[in-house]
Amino acid sequence: MTAVGIDAMEIWTGKLELDLPGTFAQAKGEDPEKYTKGLGLVTSSFPDTYEDIVTMGANAAKRLMDRKGLTPDDIGRIDVATESAFDNSKPVSTYIAGCLEQVFDGDFHHANKGERKFACVAGTQSIDDAYNWIKAGRNRGRAALVVATDTALYERGDPGEATQGAGAVAMLITENPSLVELSTEQGYGSADETDFLKPNQQFPSVDGKRSVQVYLARMREALEDFESVAGDTHPDDFAYVPFHTPFPGMVRKAGLFGYRHTLRGTDIEDELTDEIGRQPREEAFDSWEEYEEAIRDYMDSLKRTEMYRDWYARTIEPTLNIARQVGNWYTGSVHVARASALKSAAETGRELAGEHLLVGSYGSGAQAEIHAETVADGWKEEIQALTLDEQLSRRYELSFEEYERVHDVHNHEKETELEEFTQPDGEFVFTGWGRMNERKYDYVE
Ligand code: CAA
Repeated sequence: MTAVGIDAMEIWTGKLELDLPGTFAQAKGEDPEKYTKGLGLVTSSFPDTYEDIVTMGANAAKRLMDRKGLTPDDIGRIDVATESAFDNSKPVSTYIAGCLEQVFDGDFHHANKGERKFACVAGTQSIDDAYNWIKAGRNRGRAALVVATDTALYERGDPGEATQGAGAVAMLITENPSLVELSTEQGYGSADETDFLKPNQQFPSVDGKRSVQVYLARMREALEDFESVAGDTHPDDFAYVPFHTPFPGMVRKAGLFGYRHTLRGTDIEDELTDEIGRQPREEAFDSWEEYEEAIRDYMDSLKRTEMYRDWYARTIEPTLNIARQVGNWYTGSVHVARASALKSAAETGRELAGEHLLVGSYGSGAQAEIHAETVADGWKEEIQALTLDEQLSRRYELSFEEYERVHDVHNHEKETELEEFTQPDGEFVFTGWGRMNERKYDYVE
């Protein structure tokens, strides 16, 4: 059976940065450790005045096409995943294709374009669509371009303001991929929830505390569903477990739940028995409440064990390195987590080809999806081609007053004039609105 997966990826970060424990916490009169220790964030990325979901997505896609030596004829579909769209009819993929046509010979008239929406899980869903399109034999040898792009901004004063971010991930989905192969097996946890939504409004309505609980509940369902088809999982089956990362503190909770679930009935549970006892079993309790309390106590003990701490440091921590520096990128976030893990492996000389990842995506509203991936032979070359470190070090650091103004510039309800902070260089920029209120873009050499 031919393997299908991610052949290559590129990341484009918004060109501004906000220091969270420094600038933001200070202005808010908060303890910096809420950010460093609680949420697990250091800085977040923001879009400069000439950046938006189209420019960031097109810039990532251009870099990908340049690096892989592709022309528009090599690409049969373009799917954009976003929860920051500005048009209910014309998809962002048409804008991105329009940008790319400014700089590549040929056009994308033959390519099927669309836009995927299901909050942050839409990036993974777009990969899924591309996978199915290729597996169905409809791709005629061509690749799919998937772009996950978002400006994750919250209303000023909303608790979510602490977890903002902006950036895009472009991925090429092909047969015999160089980066990772996707498993056929998938698990879903999906329910009608009102934890985070944008009912025809730019900034989200969020029930933050509830959103954390919904994330964990749907992720647990997805894992059980995955295991029902792929068989039981063991914590050491996977080199890394990249999760959707709205902020690293969320993944700290998900990692502990995942570890507890997957160690049940394994040699790890046996080894831990003397130290913290065996995991409570539901059938041994008279009520669900008593069982839950016992599980909470068990998890409190579990997270202090050396066995768990080692696993977390090895399997989860490396997935969070980039998120700590860029914040939440919504649809791109889980793909940033995968890149972060692979980048860390390359930097520490770890050999990964043939090893497995367990990838946990999540979208509010709400749906979690879990699948496995096998790292492909070309992973190191692909991941070393990323220029993310350079991009991060070039970001302009905002003062709090500048942050307030740039937030206003990107607020659709405000008209704010503001000079750009950085100079565009070899990239697409937003230039204004056309006669039908469409957005206009140019490539700046
Ligand atoms: N030292 C150490 N830790 C501290 C601290 C300090 N001085 N002060 C606070 N903390 C800890 C808190 O204990 C808490 O950790 P725990 O949850 O482990 O207890 C953490 O820092 C955050 O503190 P608060 O809960 O007080 O922060 P908050 O009330 O400002 O809200 C939030 C946090 C709910 C996540 C909020 O930022 C939010 O609403 N974010 C947007 C929604 C979101 O990201 N939800 C995640 C799941 S939904 C999803 O994944 C989809 C998506 O992308 C949006």
